[in-house]
Amino acid sequence: MANSLASFYRGKKVLVTGHTGFKGGWLTAWLKILGAHVIGFALPPGTRPNLFDAATIDRDMVSLFGDVRNFEELSGTFAERSPEIVIHSAAQPLVRRSYREPVETFATNVMGTVHVLEAARHTPSVRAVVVVTSDKCYENREWFWGYREEDAMGGHDPYSSSKGCAELVTAAYRHSFFASESAAIASARAGNVIGGGDWSEDRLMPDIVRGISSGTRIVIRRPDSTRPWQHVLEVVRGYLLLAQRLWEDGQRYAKAWNFGPSDESAIPVAEVAKRTIALWGKGEINIRPDSGAPHESKYLHLNSEKARNHLGWQATLTIDQALEWSVEWYRLYYENPACALPVTETQIQRYMRMFP
Ligand SMILES: NC(=O)c1ccc[n+]([C@@H]2O[C@H](COP(=O)([O-])OP(=O)(O)OC[C@H]3O[C@@H](n4cnc5c(N)ncnc54)[C@H](O)[C@@H]3O)[C@@H](O)[C@H]2O)c1
Repeated sequence: MANSLASFYRGKKVLVTGHTGFKGGWLTAWLKILGAHVIGFALPPGTRPNLFDAATIDRDMVSLFGDVRNFEELSGTFAERSPEIVIHSAAQPLVRRSYREPVETFATNVMGTVHVLEAARHTPSVRAVVVVTSDKCYENREWFWGYREEDAMGGHDPYSSSKGCAELVTAAYRHSFFASESAAIASARAGNVIGGGDWSEDRLMPDIVRGISSGTRIVIRRPDSTRPWQHVLEVVRGYLLLAQRLWEDGQRYAKAWNFGPSDESAIPVAEVAKRTIALWGKGEINIRPDSGAPHESKYLHLNSEKARNHLGWQATLTIDQALEWSVEWYRLYYENPACALPVTETQIQRYMRMFP
């Protein structure tokens, strides 16, 4: 599959929103390896350190700082750069922050998506659009079997709701404006992603890494909370395959897609911390349950059979491999920050070799 990705993406003009972020950084690095012409559009990186600066993501691409809430700015970029493929990954992606900043979260995640799709429909060069949403877009019934793409949208907190809304926006644009053969749009739903280069607030792996690297105890607030974990490269491969199929076979793939990990990858938060510490060889945990924490939905498990049967995508790395690759990345980075780019590229190449 890697070969076909390489032959497909070579020379393609791909606009990535959110290239200064965690997933967008990995996606951009991979697209550059594949030989694509990448145009990035995002706010400047919001954390220090960050993958964008550490791995010099802005090299060998057109990197633009802009705000998806500003339609003029965004549509000007589409008009000027004429992308052929768009992968919309920019978002306010944090649940806790969405409680503090609901208006900004809805503005970025909902109207930002409207702006991307509106700009895309007025850009004749665009043939494929992938909108990145989340497993949290589903109305969480707290049941134990996997959610399928046809299940109802919902979302208790502002972030989850904004992702459900982004799905509805995408469906409305697809039915209203993209039903012809000219361009095809799809959405991609995935869950908790881990991997090197994420330093976001209120995320487990970055919290663990901050604790280990600074020699402070890692505070775990929801030790028994079980989440499905997957490596960022698994999800990014899903986006790449989906955009390729949209380009090649248009409307057949213009729908919503789940990209979830295997069942074995759902382990409790405390277990992720313990295994990470064991792999790194240092670190200490402080379990401190937070009774006043805002509501977060319980375990939500995606059924990804559609992606497996129709895109040839399936989760490949075990949870232990995903943790090993993540720890390898961070450990090398803290030994020598200049390693960030070579480690990122080496891991992408290693992952590509898994799909001959
Ligand atoms: N990381 C996860 O575990 C996870 C899980 C499910 C879904 N997602 C989704 O994946 C996507 C990427 O998430 P991430 O983990 O890389 O987050 P991130 O915070 O690392 O990156 C977000 C990106 O969006 C950009 N951005 C934010 N607001 C913007 C605005 N108003 N205008 C332009 N750019 C803006 C940021 O600059 C950054 O480049 C998001 O859509 C997120 O909701 C992430």
